[in-house]
Amino acid sequence: MGVCDLHCHLLPEIDDGYVSAEQFSRMLNLYAESGITTIAFTPHIYNPYVTTNVAKLRSTYQWAKELASSLGLVTYLGSELYVGEQDELKSLPIAARYALVEFGLSLPPPRLFERLSGLQKQSLTPILAHVERYRWLDPKSPLLVQLKQMGCLLQSNVEAVENGDALPYLKHDLIDIIATDNHGDETLPVRLVQTLSDWPQVAQRMENLW
Ligand SMILES: [Fe+2]
Repeated sequence: MGVCDLHCHLLPEIDDGYVSAEQFSRMLNLYAESGITTIAFTPHIYNPYVTTNVAKLRSTYQWAKELASSLGLVTYLGSELYVGEQDELKSLPIAARYALVEFGLSLPPPRLFERLSGLQKQSLTPILAHVERYRWLDPKSPLLVQLKQMGCLLQSNVEAVENGDALPYLKHDLIDIIATDNHGDETLPVRLVQTLSDWPQVAQRMENLW
C-alpha cells in the first residue's frame, strides 16, 4: 500500500470540515496527484464541540467512495472518537481494526486505561489523534509509556511536524502515523507526502499497518 491519510474531515456537510461537494472533488484530485493512494475519512463522533450529521454519514461516504474509486483511491469510513465521560467507547473503526481517539486538551479523561482496554476487547487498536496537543501528556511521562505498552499507536498532524510541536515525540521515535487532520486545506496532501519523506521511519511504520 502507498501513502495513506488516516485522519481527515473531508466528507461534505458531515462535521466541521466545511468542504462543499465541488471542493471535495477537487481535493480528491489533489490527493491522487500527490501520490496518496488511501484515505480514511474520520468525522468527529461524541465530540461535545462539533455537531456531526450521523444520519447522512453512510450515504455521503458511499458517494465519496465511488468518486474516489474513479480516481484510483482506496477509502475507508472511520471516525475520530472523542473520549469524554461516556461509559463505553463506541467507534466507527478504520478498516475494522483501528479506533482513532481524541481527548480534551488540559486533563486526561476519567478511567482512560479501562476504556481504551474496552476498545481492545473489541479487537481494535486505539490510535491517539494528534498526540502532541495534550498538555497532560509528554514523551517521557509514565502515562505515555503505559499507553505505548498497552499497544496504542500515536498520530501526529502534518502541521505539528512542520512547526515543531511534534518534534519531542518524533525525536524519541514514538510516532507511528503522520496524517493531515484535513478540514479543507488543499495544500495538505502534498505536505503529507513531503513530511513522510522527511520521516521515513514513520512512513515505514505506516506501511506495516495493513
Ligand atoms: Fe481531527
